[in-house]
Amino acid sequence: MNTHDVTMKSQTPLVGPADAARYDSRFSSLASGTMSSAMRDLMAITEQADVISLAGGLPDTEAFPRAIFDGIVSDMGSEYLASSLQYGPTDGMKDLREQIAILMSHEGAHARVDDILITSGGQQAIDLSIRTFVNPGDAVLAEGPTYPGAVPCFTAYGADVTHIPLDDDGMRVDLLEEAYARLVAEGRPPKLLYTIPNFQNPAGVTMSLARRQRLIEFSHANGLLIIEDNPYGMIRFEGEALPTLFELDGGAGWVVYLSTFSKILAPGVRVGWAVAPPAVLRKMNLGKQAADLCSSNLTQRFITEYLRRHDYREHVARVNTLYKARRDVMLSTMEQRFPASATWTHPRGGLFVWATLPDYIDTKALQAKALERQVAFVPGEAAFLDGRGKSSMRLNFSGVSEALITEGIGRLGEVLTDFCALHETLHPRRT
Ligand SMILES: Cc1ncc(COP(=O)(O)O)c(C=O)c1O
Repeated sequence: MNTHDVTMKSQTPLVGPADAARYDSRFSSLASGTMSSAMRDLMAITEQADVISLAGGLPDTEAFPRAIFDGIVSDMGSEYLASSLQYGPTDGMKDLREQIAILMSHEGAHARVDDILITSGGQQAIDLSIRTFVNPGDAVLAEGPTYPGAVPCFTAYGADVTHIPLDDDGMRVDLLEEAYARLVAEGRPPKLLYTIPNFQNPAGVTMSLARRQRLIEFSHANGLLIIEDNPYGMIRFEGEALPTLFELDGGAGWVVYLSTFSKILAPGVRVGWAVAPPAVLRKMNLGKQAADLCSSNLTQRFITEYLRRHDYREHVARVNTLYKARRDVMLSTMEQRFPASATWTHPRGGLFVWATLPDYIDTKALQAKALERQVAFVPGEAAFLDGRGKSSMRLNFSGVSEALITEGIGRLGEVLTDFCALHETLHPRRT
């Protein structure tokens, strides 16, 4: 049998659609409750050639120097072949955890090597932290909008999420305090807060220092556990780096810190990490044992050797220059092509712009029209668990060239202008 025969055979579905219903009564409540991240569904569409995708959160992997990649892979082959191909400890390679402690110290965050757990991407770190703390029905706080990829984690574990609004200075900590008090009064104190303080996905905004300090004070006074997700802290184009919540916590143990190499180096390696107090880390470690035993030794070694031999900050500076130029093109094209009734954030780093359109526009309906014009974005509803965000959209500027951003935003502007004109015709304003 040749490869062609195998491929043809594997195209026959295992079970036809009519028989698929047999599984419905057998699915666990966890599986039944799990929703796909709208973003993941979109990835499938946007993989099609000719679609200008402003939907993903894709870093530019072309910017990774080929010579560096070849050098590390070749040395891994001669020095670490057997161990790279072997299973490793669940908490991850010690050499890598040491490098991560150094990397975090460059951001002013001081973690002990033993408090670090290597995960399969930042996504697994979110999943493990939610499953470690959340029972079905537990109250959880998260920014509104929040990371669309965290939404399936919240739904899978049955979290009852209250969204806390954002403005240009990040999460409204005053509103968080109100929401917390309300939930406590209802007898449902929130189990945790999930937050992305730096260049938030999807809103692009950053929490101010004053709000960080107020949040930590509140956390300490009330025992509010914070999951700080920080994939974008180094993707900064302007302004000074602010201290992480983890650092401001000062070792009090109220912050679990998560990050990933996906945005600063490459998502293909699927290496992220969590920093947590020992008691929490043990539970997360057990969760990881059940999920995948350990993360890939091959890619952990690759990252370790990269960090040992090269200054990752040079690479980050290079991609930041690229992304800043792309952000500028996106913002200036939006200025020219989007209708006057639209507003949007002006991110000083990260990968995303969050645009808000007039109330009567449903960005899911708009999405269908935009796809007809071969351009994709993430409808805002994907970033909420309570149905809000209908007239907002997330636009990514890191994954495509400046020329394609100009073209994509131009097309989107035309679709939007048509939508607004149609609305004006159907609902003329009385003067
Ligand atoms: C806020 C946030 N956390 C986690 C992740 C997941 O990172 P990874 O690709 O390393 O799993 C992403 C990816 O977009 C993200 O934006």
